[in-house]
Amino acid sequence: MTEKQEKSSEAIFSKSFDRNPYPIFKRLRQEDPIRKTMLPSGHYTWIVTTYKDAETILKDKRFIKDYTNLMEFEKEEDRYAHTSIFARNMLFADLPDHRRLRGLVQQAFTPKVIEELRPRIQEITDDLLDQVEQNGKMNLIDDFAFPLPIIVICEMLGVPSEDRDQFRMWSNTLIESTGDPEDTEKVMLHMQQFTQYLTDWVATRRHEPKEDLVSKLIHAEEEGDRLSEQELYGVIALLIMAGHETTVNLISNGVLALLNHPDQLEALRKDPSLIKPAIEEFLRFDGPVEFSTDRWAIETIEIGGQMIQKGDHVLVALNSANRDESVFNDPDLFDITRDSSKHLAFGKGIHFCLGAPLARLEAEIAVGTLLNRLTNLKLNVEEHKLIWRPSLIIRGLEELPITFEKVN
Ligand code: HEM
Repeated sequence: MTEKQEKSSEAIFSKSFDRNPYPIFKRLRQEDPIRKTMLPSGHYTWIVTTYKDAETILKDKRFIKDYTNLMEFEKEEDRYAHTSIFARNMLFADLPDHRRLRGLVQQAFTPKVIEELRPRIQEITDDLLDQVEQNGKMNLIDDFAFPLPIIVICEMLGVPSEDRDQFRMWSNTLIESTGDPEDTEKVMLHMQQFTQYLTDWVATRRHEPKEDLVSKLIHAEEEGDRLSEQELYGVIALLIMAGHETTVNLISNGVLALLNHPDQLEALRKDPSLIKPAIEEFLRFDGPVEFSTDRWAIETIEIGGQMIQKGDHVLVALNSANRDESVFNDPDLFDITRDSSKHLAFGKGIHFCLGAPLARLEAEIAVGTLLNRLTNLKLNVEEHKLIWRPSLIIRGLEELPITFEKVN
């Protein structure tokens, strides 16, 4: 790597990048849109920052998700030795396995089925606000944005939502892991604990099936060739983790953007019908998933003037693509009335987010109800003191303390 490239690699993993990645993304889009960078684990990756290249790579099946497809095995079972159960699901699968695994749960996440959850999501939202409304202040993440999606996904799956603090600890460890050798012990321990939890829970449900997703998945596994036991755990773990790490940040990054742009907050209050475009703008402006998950080139591919070699690792910077000036006018401007629908916050192609209808509905109800019931919302800390989580994949705050008054 040249000295200039080393500097930008450091910039990507610095505290100032965690706080505000957008100036660094802008520089990369202009100067080095597909660049080779060293990860904290010591491995190299290609970071892709323009909209055009991001969309091309996400849609191109030659960028695979299951790296064991780059390896040769004498026996098919040997493949399993190279991945943890947390990778045995659709997000880390290529065709045809991807279609089979996604197909097992897809029906539970269609916009029509999700819309039926509206009354229950509204009820959970109201209960959470009932608990803090009198206090005049809350940590929007712990008190509101985190429990809401967790309770919903736990109810859909049929796992106890009282165990959410454990799920949070395990999934935070996995998501925040950078592959740094210093992390390894903790990651291994939490993976082991999470796996044991899933094994025990699946055993309980096997004896006592209910009308929930875990019971349906167990049924599919028992039928034989549709789902292996390892994949059963892998799919449940993915849904728990996706439910923990994403919508919480859609709600909290969105509320922070509104607090930082009082004119937009006022516009939304005056015209609640703007809630749907506002949620899309939250996703574009400061989306919860900063980088796509891992991809590998299955052959040598030329893209944007760079030769990506067979076996190279690639990360697509979704939040950079969503600020690309060639697609979005004045991209650093937060404007809830703009058409943000082209954003890549939910990815693109076959791995397009399965939970998008659920995340959109939860955010719509959460933010809509928050503005209906509370007024005079203000940050209860100086903005520069807010701490952003160190994860490479997730863009979210540790805490979001706010003050407010009850609407009479
Ligand atoms: C605002 C909230 C969310 C955002 C921004 C988001 C974003 C994403 C993105 C970018 C991907 C593709 C990753 C890649 O291609 O590397 C993805 C995939 C996925 N998401 Fe979400 N997600 C959100 C909420 C959820 C929720 C609530 C669930 C379910 C509980 C969920 C389940 C999934 C699943 C299962 C996949 C894998 C799909 C596949 O590989 O076919 N997501 N999500």
